[in-house]
Amino acid sequence: DDLGVNGDVSGKTVLVRADLNVPMQDGKVSDTTRIDRLAPTLTELAKKGAKVVVLSHFGRPKNGPDAKNSLRNVLDALSAAVGQTVAFGEDCVGDKAKAAIAGVQPGGIVLLENTRFHAEEEKNDPAFAKQIAELGDLYVNDAFSAAHRAHASTEGVAQYLPAAAGRLMQAELEALTKALEKPERPVAAVVGGAKISTKLDLLGNLVRKVDMLALGGGMANTFLYAQGVDVGASLCEKDMADQARAIMETAKAANCELLLPVDFIVAKEFKAGAANRAVAANAIGADGMALDVGPKTVEFLDLKLQGAKTIVWNGPLGAFEIQPFDAGTNAVAGLVAERTAEGGLLSVAGGGDTVAALAHAGVEEKFTYISAAGGAFLEWLEGKDLPGVAALKKK
Ligand code: 3PG
Repeated sequence: DDLGVNGDVSGKTVLVRADLNVPMQDGKVSDTTRIDRLAPTLTELAKKGAKVVVLSHFGRPKNGPDAKNSLRNVLDALSAAVGQTVAFGEDCVGDKAKAAIAGVQPGGIVLLENTRFHAEEEKNDPAFAKQIAELGDLYVNDAFSAAHRAHASTEGVAQYLPAAAGRLMQAELEALTKALEKPERPVAAVVGGAKISTKLDLLGNLVRKVDMLALGGGMANTFLYAQGVDVGASLCEKDMADQARAIMETAKAANCELLLPVDFIVAKEFKAGAANRAVAANAIGADGMALDVGPKTVEFLDLKLQGAKTIVWNGPLGAFEIQPFDAGTNAVAGLVAERTAEGGLLSVAGGGDTVAALAHAGVEEKFTYISAAGGAFLEWLEGKDLPGVAALKKK
């Protein structure tokens, strides 16, 4: 359970698969969350006397190396996070990688170039995985957020070296296991987001595992529509009504209580400050757009979620990027945060938009755990085995 093999990494070259796939703006890292959360693994290994070699993908390059997708772009942010100058290797395999690693002393850290500059990475090519493995003595996977990809640096390489989970990977797995595998009950899920079509598997899995499922965002409109409610001009995937009904049936059979919005904040245009009013869920009106859950829904969820011992959250409840349609998400996130702080509630959230929505609500520090993962968190909520995690478990 320790980094490396029994924690003895002194003098060893340790390959750490990180997820440095961070957002950029004007050539600079615009959100360092993933880097900050990875840093403890790197500094721990370095302090223990390992030579630390960091591997990661960055973006989705399709035609080999290019400046935009070079990991050089995150080198300064990584150096700042680990408190030492990180060296750089122009390639992640072969002579350039070996030379860069040779230039680093034990206790030092070197970042290698984007693994996706080689097409073999995404093909999980065994020969390429072996080339990576040749670079070090041990493999540490700290990229939970890339663990849904069966790639050479996330899955293949684990077969050729002693392998362990890094600190961030450990924290993610521990939080997620507590939240869904062995939760304290009752357990509730709060799921929002625009479309039900992107979350069918997730909803199907959750209704079998949780005691309550609260739905918000555009996808709630599709559920209401499937029950015969007129949702007016609201976002709604009408062709998904059958799937929504099937999820409702599964929920019923599994004794999962489905909580749909009872009112909405409705406007006629989708822009900041648009004239709006709160109406009952069945009174949206032909030209009305439901853009947020209303105050009665917040009260209803407050009451329903009161007894929950565990809450898993994915997706915003309304169009939170545009005020005032952030109010519902802010209020429900606020009450989950408050109950977590009072004790007795474990709250775990994750997924791309979710972190932004909770940060916007100012509560991201107050949840028990917020995952650094987007797609991997969703696949985990879908109940899928993540290849990167499975490879470590096999070891
Ligand atoms: C992410 O940002 O969610 C991960 O790094 C995975 O990136 P990908 O979707 O390009 O594989």
